Amino acid sequence: MTFDEIAEKRVSVRKFDAERKISIYNLRTVIDAARLAPSWKNSQTARYHLVTDRTVFSRLLKGLSPRNAENAEGASALLVTTFVKDVARFRDGHPDNELGNGWGIYDAGISNSYVLLKAAECGIDSLVMGIRDAEAIRLILNIPDDEVVLSVIALGYRVSSVARPRRKELDDILKIY
Ligand SMILES: Cc1cc2nc3c(=O)[nH]c(=O)nc-3n(C[C@H](O)[C@H](O)[C@H](O)COP(=O)(O)O)c2cc1C
Repeated sequence: MTFDEIAEKRVSVRKFDAERKISIYNLRTVIDAARLAPSWKNSQTARYHLVTDRTVFSRLLKGLSPRNAENAEGASALLVTTFVKDVARFRDGHPDNELGNGWGIYDAGISNSYVLLKAAECGIDSLVMGIRDAEAIRLILNIPDDEVVLSVIALGYRVSSVARPRRKELDDILKIY
C-alpha cells in the first residue's frame, strides 16, 4: 500500500465489531511501528499500555466519557498512550526551552500517528479518545507518576463504512515563503 492509500484508509471508527479480535502478534506489530518515530534528541519518551483482558477492558471503559465508552465497547483492545515527563529537554530540573514537557506531547503525537497508520495498513481500525479521566486511568492500570496520561486508542474492526469529516484546503493550512 502507498502512503496515500494508508492515510485514506485511516478514519475514526465509532462502532467496532465485537466478534472480531486482533491477535496479540498483530497488536505488537502495530505498536512496534511507534519505535521508528522521531523524537527530541531520540529521547523516545512515548509509552504504551495495551489492554486486551476483558475484565481490565471493562474497568478501563469507566475511565472514558460515556459516549466514548459506548463507541469503544466493541473494540478488541484499548491502548493508553503516555509519555515520560521531565526526562528529555530538561537539564538540572529546568526545561531546555519554553515548551518544556510540551515536546513530550509533540513526540507522543508523532509516535501515536505511526501506530494509527500502521494499524490502517494492517486493516485495523482505530479511534483516538482524548475525553477521558487521566487520573482514573492511572489508578486502573497503575501507571507510574512520571508518565503523563494522554489518550486512549480503541483498536478493532469497523462494523460498516465510515465517512471522513471534511478537511480544510491545503492553502488554508499552508503558507509558503
Ligand atoms: C487528540 C485527539 C483526541 C480525540 N478525542 C476524541 C474523543 O474523545 N472522542 C471521539 O469520538 N473522537 C476523538 N478524536 C477523533 C477526532 O474527532 C477525529 O480524528 C477528527 O474528527 C477527524 O476525523 P477522522 O479521524 O475520521 O479523520 C480525537 C482525535 C485526536 C487526534
